[in-house]
Amino acid sequence: MTSSHTVDFLSSGFVVKTARSEQFNGKIKAEVEQIRVLHAIYPQLMVPVLHDGLAAGRQFYILEKMNSLPLSGIVFDEQRSLAGRRMIVRNALEKIQEAISLESETSSLMVNDMAERLREEWEGTRFAHALFDKSVLLNGASFTTTAREVYEKALKMAQTEVFRSVDKAHFNFHFGNVLYNEECAETRFIDPDFSVRGLDPLFGFSRFAFSFWHELAAEVKDAVKVVPMADALMFVLARPDYANILSEIPELGSISGLLPLMGESMRNRFYVLTTYCFLRSIRINGSKQIWNMPRSPVVASPEEVLMLGLLAYLEGTVAETVTLCA
Ligand SMILES: Nc1ncnc2c1ncn2[C@@H]1O[C@H](COP(=O)(O)OP(=O)(O)OP(=O)(O)O)[C@@H](O)[C@H]1O
Ligand SMILES: [Mg+2]
Repeated sequence: MTSSHTVDFLSSGFVVKTARSEQFNGKIKAEVEQIRVLHAIYPQLMVPVLHDGLAAGRQFYILEKMNSLPLSGIVFDEQRSLAGRRMIVRNALEKIQEAISLESETSSLMVNDMAERLREEWEGTRFAHALFDKSVLLNGASFTTTAREVYEKALKMAQTEVFRSVDKAHFNFHFGNVLYNEECAETRFIDPDFSVRGLDPLFGFSRFAFSFWHELAAEVKDAVKVVPMADALMFVLARPDYANILSEIPELGSISGLLPLMGESMRNRFYVLTTYCFLRSIRINGSKQIWNMPRSPVVASPEEVLMLGLLAYLEGTVAETVTLCA
């Protein structure tokens, strides 16, 4: 999929984001407006737009180039200790928490639309429904739940939970959009998502949690292998560091690792929004080919990696399975 825009780093210390064609001007313009709105709410956290306009009929905007790294460049840096990476993740999460609470104060509107939204995404991922029924193992440990059961559980919760509906929120705290300056231990945000406005701002946490699996699904080549078994699918992570991140940075490993930051009372809302986040991404990034059981070990497809992430993050595995031979 060709991107709607280009991002250029100028030697003068500025970053320019430009629509690829007039067709995408509206998207970039909406992004500029959203950055301005968010900057007014949390000026210390949002990188401001310095200038925007039209160049040869294409919308662009300019940001100061931050002397920092996106979290993706930190979390996946094997040269760093896991404790060091965890500290940075926690610092960034505190700022995300701060932003989300300020966003939550911008609207008192409560809605009950998540069941409907979930059903739409379930329909949109029809090509992968056979995959969602499979029993799954990760590095030898099994899940007691299937992805379909996660969806059904989320749907049930969505029918009783109410959600905040907010327009003035970032909604897109994935690793590429959270910039971290190590010298000052400073976190700044770029690139909000205007297309999901109206959701609960807690969705921003879901985007963050999902980000680890999105990187493995869409950004890193050959990150996960899938091995077909008689009655299950076994996934193997290509690098030991991936499994270490999940166990040593609990905030990224599972819902229980992140909940202390947002409050245990948020569990059901967060479960629903995170399921929605993964399904939405499977619809957008998945192959859209009807899923079939692979015949031999292969590199996992984006929909397979994201399904694995949904299970691992929300349900976790049970201890290593021991196969007893007769
Ligand atoms: N002001 C900035 N300072 C430093 N780095 C930046 C800045 N703006 C963007 N970047 C870098 O450029 C990358 C892409 O920018 P941005 O997120 O705005 O575009 P994008 O194409 O939407 O990316 P994606 O869709 O992959 O999130 C960021 O992940 C970050 O690494
Ligand atoms: Mg981005």
